[in-house]
Amino acid sequence: MRLTLHDLRRYAGERKLATLTCYDASFAAVLDAAEVDLILIGDSLGMVVQGHDSTLPVTVADVAYHTRAVVRGAQRAFIVADMPFGSYQQSPAQALGSAVELMQAGAQMVKLEGGVEMAPTIEFLVQRGVPVCGHVGLTPQHVNSFGGYRVQGRGLGGDRVREAALAVEQAGAALIVIEAVPQPLADAIAAQCRALTIGIGASVRCNGQVLVLHDALGAGVGRRPRFVRNFLDGRAADPAGNTVEGAIRSYVAQVRAGLFPGPEHVYPGDAG
Ligand code: KIV
Repeated sequence: MRLTLHDLRRYAGERKLATLTCYDASFAAVLDAAEVDLILIGDSLGMVVQGHDSTLPVTVADVAYHTRAVVRGAQRAFIVADMPFGSYQQSPAQALGSAVELMQAGAQMVKLEGGVEMAPTIEFLVQRGVPVCGHVGLTPQHVNSFGGYRVQGRGLGGDRVREAALAVEQAGAALIVIEAVPQPLADAIAAQCRALTIGIGASVRCNGQVLVLHDALGAGVGRRPRFVRNFLDGRAADPAGNTVEGAIRSYVAQVRAGLFPGPEHVYPGDAG
């Protein structure tokens, strides 16, 4: 039986939620066997599957294609599909059109990047039956505005990220991905938000963690950010980490127990 939002909220009261990205049926089956709670068909597919140097070229048709494949491979995990760059920023109606395509491909929720400026769109989607996951902090679709993939929310920037998270939550997002912000800021947001928080380079105090699958298996592309850990590495504490399924199980166990991320995977700093 596929997990629902209700199940995720119940589990979050007991343990951390393990999330990974995935793009195909075979890996989806492995993730399901390892009891990954949420699978994100991330627009990171533009980089790790298609070989682009950013997520910007990805289309709704691309994400829908990979969502259909993942849904065929995984029967248990909750399915979140990413709304690609340019597929939702124009108007709430445009966002609904894109979301419908992804939900019809099998997604249970869509994820979109942004803060205060996206709140009306999130509200519009939620009111029409589309569960939404927000994404704040380092939002990769803004790479050109940020001037690279940089930690966000340092110093005065902390207020902007905090406002983004609260705006997204108040608009009705049920989940929020917090990416690459100083740990004290992520702690403060996680403590304040009623929406479930999923961290990546944020804080172990979030309700769950996410990694790009390829990064978790040591097959990431480009520079390796601080928050990445290769769970397939034979040096990983768990000896089962030497097989793909073992590596994923090790990731799930460490996230659930609050052992990943460690201090070496998050960013020091202040709460902004
Ligand atoms: O596209 C993606 O894979 C993501 C995760 C890194 C959160 O947005």
